[in-house]
Amino acid sequence: MGGKVILITGGSRGLGSKLVKRLSAENENTVYFTYLNSEKKAAELAAQFNNVTALKCDQRSESQIIDCVSKIDSLHGRLDVLVNNACNSFKPCELLSTDWAAFQDCFDVNVKGAYFFTREAAKIMKRQGAGKIINVLSSYVLNVPPEKLSFYITAKYALLGISRAAAVELGKWGVTVNMISPGLMATDLSGHLPKKYFDMQAQKHPMKRMASTDDAADVVEFLISDKAKFLNGTNIPVNGGEVFL
Ligand SMILES: NC(=O)c1ccc[n+]([C@@H]2O[C@H](COP(=O)([O-])OP(=O)(O)OC[C@H]3O[C@@H](n4cnc5c(N)ncnc54)[C@H](OP(=O)(O)O)[C@@H]3O)[C@@H](O)[C@H]2O)c1
Repeated sequence: MGGKVILITGGSRGLGSKLVKRLSAENENTVYFTYLNSEKKAAELAAQFNNVTALKCDQRSESQIIDCVSKIDSLHGRLDVLVNNACNSFKPCELLSTDWAAFQDCFDVNVKGAYFFTREAAKIMKRQGAGKIINVLSSYVLNVPPEKLSFYITAKYALLGISRAAAVELGKWGVTVNMISPGLMATDLSGHLPKKYFDMQAQKHPMKRMASTDDAADVVEFLISDKAKFLNGTNIPVNGGEVFL
């Protein structure tokens, strides 16, 4: 891979922290990640590597996102990879008991934040004539979704929409936008689900196990490699055949 400037949103925990570790393993890469509340975890993660920097940035704030991306631009004059990964935590809730606030929270982080990051990163990528944007969706956008997650599913569909719209508009400047849709992974986000549920789902799974953050990180590594240079607007399921496209 070698020598890329990479920005991962929501890198303090879960899949984001796995991506930070994976993408910084290539010493020539320079990896930035954002976080909001997990100050200690972010500092500990960044301290493990010489080429990793944690940036506090509330994904819901346009001005903080502009500051974050322009900081990287002023230091390096480039940005090669953006991974829109951050997601707010939430509690499942039946549609009839939800209010707009639950939708707004999910939209602010998953859609609005990803939009601002994409727009700001793409300005730099257009200037350099190359760049890769990876947006993290969910296998719930691939088939019949589970109940009680209407706000999350709606936000991920919106992220799918903006990803495709951006892929079409940015491709001519050498900037590609692709998506991954992981199956259920054991992270804080899915922490509300009992272990019994994971075990039951794994039993029904064609590969008899659930997705892991390593599975998802493998596909992100592929997407940012030259091997994926002609993929654009693609949504790759990372679910072991649980759902077919
Ligand atoms: N876990 C699953 O089963 C699963 C399955 C499919 C897809 N996904 C997707 O995979 C991605 C990563 O999920 P995960 O399971 O790794 O989640 P997670 O463990 O809950 O981590 C979420 C990350 O997002 C950050 N974040 C949340 N709100 C933020 C804000 N306002 N500003 C900046 N950062 C913010 C958190 O940072 P702080 O802690 O510092 O606030 C944290 O680093 C998400 O897009 C999720 O939808 C997850």
